[in-house]
Amino acid sequence: MRIIYAKDYDELSKKAANFIAAQVTMKPECVLGLATGSSPIGTYKCLKAMCKNGDVDFSKVKAVNLDEYCGLPKTNDQSYAYFMKENLFDGINIDQANTNIPDGTNPDVAAECKRYDAVVKSMGGVDLQLLGIGNNGHIAFNEPSDSFSLGTNCVNLTESTIEANKRFFESADDVPRKAYTMGVGTIMSAKKILMVANGDAKADIICEMATGKITPNVPASILQIHPDVTVICDEKALQKLMAVAPELVER
Ligand code: GLP
Repeated sequence: MRIIYAKDYDELSKKAANFIAAQVTMKPECVLGLATGSSPIGTYKCLKAMCKNGDVDFSKVKAVNLDEYCGLPKTNDQSYAYFMKENLFDGINIDQANTNIPDGTNPDVAAECKRYDAVVKSMGGVDLQLLGIGNNGHIAFNEPSDSFSLGTNCVNLTESTIEANKRFFESADDVPRKAYTMGVGTIMSAKKILMVANGDAKADIICEMATGKITPNVPASILQIHPDVTVICDEKALQKLMAVAPELVER
């Protein structure tokens, strides 16, 4: 796991966007695994500017997103489908027919999980998977648990995630209690993984992910054994790791 220092959110976002743009330039028909949450918004903003300037071309890219809240249609402004259109897809030259996200409105859990696994498989796997991290170590919506999930599954969100994500909703009561998420096994099968994290609230979990034991109670800890993971963090998110194991951080 390479852990890269950025002085602030702007620098983090530029570095992460350059990393993704390099992937697309080297393999124009690549499969990008994409993430939601506030962390990648700056990265997406940089990618939109790069695309507008003609510095990166997404026309052959296929995209597969990590997760979606159950019960929210694509038109709901809190759905992750809506988020992706707003924050990335409408601002780049990707063919939106080549973008994929679990269907939060499908009440048939088994069918939706099977369908989404087949979508990822039909693309031949993910070349570069972008990730954020939850305060409790969740990746996508794979919450702390007794075992690592394999394929797409439907999860009950933890109170800590509902609490963290309520800032996007009118109240905590409006946060859906369930979500479809790509499994940890699928995430681990991506050829490359890029994680972005910023802010004081992520300092403890970044340190735990990188130096703690590998356990499904901290789902992101499994990234320690992936052969090609890059984590880009701002100084705030790195403060604990830099105090505990500064040698792990590339500046
Ligand atoms: C949500 C998403 C995750 C994301 C996490 C962190 O729960 N499902 O994919 O990584 O939030 O979000 P943020 O980047 O806003 O801290």
